[in-house]
Amino acid sequence: MKKSIVGKHAQHKKLGSNILQISQEAKEMKLKYDDIIDATVGMLHHEEGNVFKFQTVEDSLYHLSDSETYHYAPVRGTEKFSEGVFDWVFGRQADTLRKEFKYSVIPTTGGSGAVSNTFYNFNDFSQKVLLPNIYWSPYKNFALEANIDLKTFLMFDEDFNFNIEDFKKEAYALAKEQGRLTLLLNDPCNNPSGLCMTNDSWVEVIKTLNEIDNTGVPVVLVHDIAYIDYQMIPTELSRDIFKNYLDLNEEILVVVIFSGSKTFSLYGFRVGAQIGLSKSQEVIDSFSRVGDYSVRGRFSSVSQPGMNIIEKIFSNPENRKAFENELVEGRKLLKARAAKFVEEAKKSNLVTYPYCGGFFISIPTKNENIFNDLRKDHVYIIQMQGLIRIALSSLKLKDVTELVRRIKKHI
Ligand SMILES: Cc1ncc(COP(=O)(O)O)c(C=O)c1O
Repeated sequence: MKKSIVGKHAQHKKLGSNILQISQEAKEMKLKYDDIIDATVGMLHHEEGNVFKFQTVEDSLYHLSDSETYHYAPVRGTEKFSEGVFDWVFGRQADTLRKEFKYSVIPTTGGSGAVSNTFYNFNDFSQKVLLPNIYWSPYKNFALEANIDLKTFLMFDEDFNFNIEDFKKEAYALAKEQGRLTLLLNDPCNNPSGLCMTNDSWVEVIKTLNEIDNTGVPVVLVHDIAYIDYQMIPTELSRDIFKNYLDLNEEILVVVIFSGSKTFSLYGFRVGAQIGLSKSQEVIDSFSRVGDYSVRGRFSSVSQPGMNIIEKIFSNPENRKAFENELVEGRKLLKARAAKFVEEAKKSNLVTYPYCGGFFISIPTKNENIFNDLRKDHVYIIQMQGLIRIALSSLKLKDVTELVRRIKKHI
């Protein structure tokens, strides 16, 4: 028998053409040709092409002490970090949630580490996590790496609304089949579609989770809010979706996925958090126990400077206010690009998925070769499940009209 250096469980692993690689290729091509349009990068950029940095982040970063920069961070981070993240994420709902729920904040290596840890601990091997059929592709990597898989329901109905009927059908079926339900929703400002679920959809989702919980199976809601700070409404209003949690049954666990990359442009620092919430102390004790263990067992601890920057911004009201003002500027950039894109798309009869904020807008397509067709035409986008994703975060306003023209040719 031929020897294999790789373990049996790892035989399938091969990182296909991924988003970071494609972005790299686009960057290299830009050096050779001046008509390259790069709409791949999920990092917020200014019109001039430089990354959108926050002055408050810079000020905190460059005033860190040696120990705040170089020392190992505690597995749990600090209380100021945890409470600051909790207050930021839940905004004006934070006090009510503190009163009604038990909670625990576990720092992770970005939102990615948070999803990955959650997948690892809240499913039996070979089980599936339910999520919409349009999703950020790394979720699949996180699942396979955790010896589980994904199961999808249709994200949209014919009118491009969240497809509550298909969600319910698949949720009941999966819960029955495997005696557990873990649901992942990336909302608001879904990557890649740009969708924000309505409050009515959230009410129905919570109702369904409660009904499934009543049948005696464990229910976990993984709520990825990576782009919540870029919804096209004031920050406080974007937090109103969390009111829906109040109706959750006692034993349901919610794991909110926080990404320091998106909120602070700290992409390279790899800092984020899993925020566990449940009305049951026992559930939260279990969440903390397995979460702490996995942080130590999988990546040891989180970026010390990354956590300290966030702590310094959240624990000082002046810094926090200044940061909020800077975020408004970031949202303005996205808003202008989205408005221009939608206007140009309309003029060209190009259908877009509804956009309510975030870094991406998407266009449905039946052309399975669209990535290569557009690449030949010097356009870099990301092709995903039946759509192309345009990163408004790195697109320049001056390129929008030409981008739409080239997309129209190949869609
Ligand atoms: C939907 C979604 N969730 C989570 C993340 C996590 O990002 P990070 O690991 O950089 O915090 C991303 C990053 O692109 C994302 O698009």
